[in-house]
Amino acid sequence: SKHYCILLAAGSGNRMNYTTPKQFLKIAGRTVLEHTLDVIDAHPDIDEIFIVIGNEYRISVEEILLRNNYGKVTKLLNGGSTRRESSASGISAVDEDDALVLLHDAVRPFLNHTIISECLSALSRYPAVDVAIAAVDTIIEVDAADRITHIPRRTSLRRGQTPQGFRAGVLREAHRLAMSDPDVEVTDDCGLVLRYGLGEVFVVPGDERNIKITYPEDLYLADKIFQINTV
Ligand code: C5P
Repeated sequence: SKHYCILLAAGSGNRMNYTTPKQFLKIAGRTVLEHTLDVIDAHPDIDEIFIVIGNEYRISVEEILLRNNYGKVTKLLNGGSTRRESSASGISAVDEDDALVLLHDAVRPFLNHTIISECLSALSRYPAVDVAIAAVDTIIEVDAADRITHIPRRTSLRRGQTPQGFRAGVLREAHRLAMSDPDVEVTDDCGLVLRYGLGEVFVVPGDERNIKITYPEDLYLADKIFQINTV
């Protein structure tokens, strides 16, 4: 079956206090999006890459594609105002049901080939996979008045990263159901698969370096990780 990667790059980057969305900020002179594409395009088992973008950034993305030699990018798709709408736009562009699809945040430039391979491999056994690392902080659950309601056992908690992987038919069905679900608060695609009982989601180990660039200070860390990765 064919293996797609859908890169979610339609966010506006509100938490960054910059006008430029974080996927277009630079690490070592090149955009975050380029660093992410470098890794995915070079993976031997990925056949095609679709990039989901905000329409106002189409020209920026086209410029990035002209500057580089990514052989696998075949579609630029318009995203939506939420991450869920953007991933729905991505999956609707995949025709086959038996294809394997990885959804990845464009703002996680330090995913690696081991993670990609392990996701694809787990999809032969499971309809969906998530990538996560150990929780190092104690996670507390609170009520609306900031009182603790529950402290889950840390050993059973993980911090979710991306990519998340799916059999295409399963992800398409999850988004079809979410479309007519008035109480869907789930923003996460694996969360949708669980919510609609579409199958078990296996978790493969992520990497501490696979950070999501969210806040301005994350760019400093990103520069360091880039340096460590290249030695
Ligand atoms: O905002 P957040 O950090 O959760 O975004 C994660 C990823 O989802 C980013 O790569 C962002 O570009 C993407 N996104 C999107 N469409 C949205 C919101 C976020 O593609 N409407």
